Amino acid sequence: MPDKTLNIAVICGSLRKASYNAALARALPALAPAGLSLTSAPPWHTFPVYNADDHASTGIPADVTTWADAIRAADGVIIVSPEYNWSIPGGLKNAIDWVSRLKDVPFKDKPVALQSCSGGLLGGGRMQYHLRMSLTAIDALMFGKPEVFVNFSAKKFDEKTLALTDQPTIDMVKAQLGAFEKFVRRVSGSS
Ligand SMILES: Cc1cc2nc3c(=O)[nH]c(=O)nc-3n(C[C@H](O)[C@H](O)[C@H](O)COP(=O)(O)O)c2cc1C
Repeated sequence: MPDKTLNIAVICGSLRKASYNAALARALPALAPAGLSLTSAPPWHTFPVYNADDHASTGIPADVTTWADAIRAADGVIIVSPEYNWSIPGGLKNAIDWVSRLKDVPFKDKPVALQSCSGGLLGGGRMQYHLRMSLTAIDALMFGKPEVFVNFSAKKFDEKTLALTDQPTIDMVKAQLGAFEKFVRRVSGSS
């Protein structure tokens, strides 16, 4: 019997049109093993800034519910995000804060892998540690290694098409996706 295909939701932390992180997210389906089916998660950029008073008076916005449902329905999640000021971009953190207040927190027991592209030397490593911490706080099952840090990202993508062209980066991403599939199957008991 072939393994069940795993559905993986991909969340991008950048809204920029020419985003390297969005370009990496677009490259993932072609680099993923056959057992993973990757789909973009619904948008999070429309969420209001979290305010517990608004939450209490008007409840959970519909787009937050849609995002949470997509995460809940997925077998695993990959977050591809830039680092802003050594940490998680505010909009993405706001989205995580929203869903952390739901009764059935969608990241609970969810396998999550992280990737980041940055213009600098460290490739978004500090953001990944902060994301790892926040998601652990809401009981996500964080995938360890191999890690994916794409530093000096302008050199790793085609200037015009934004296609991922750097072979060592392609190899690193493939290695992570292969290991993430095994991790998801192990923690979810899926054959
Ligand atoms: C508000 C802001 C803060 C940034 N802070 C960092 C940082 O702390 N570390 C880093 O490596 N790059 C930082 N950068 C540069 C980003 O790595 C670079 O702009 C990257 O291309 C953003 O990702 P994107 O191309 O997916 O939009 C920052 C960029 C912005 C806009």
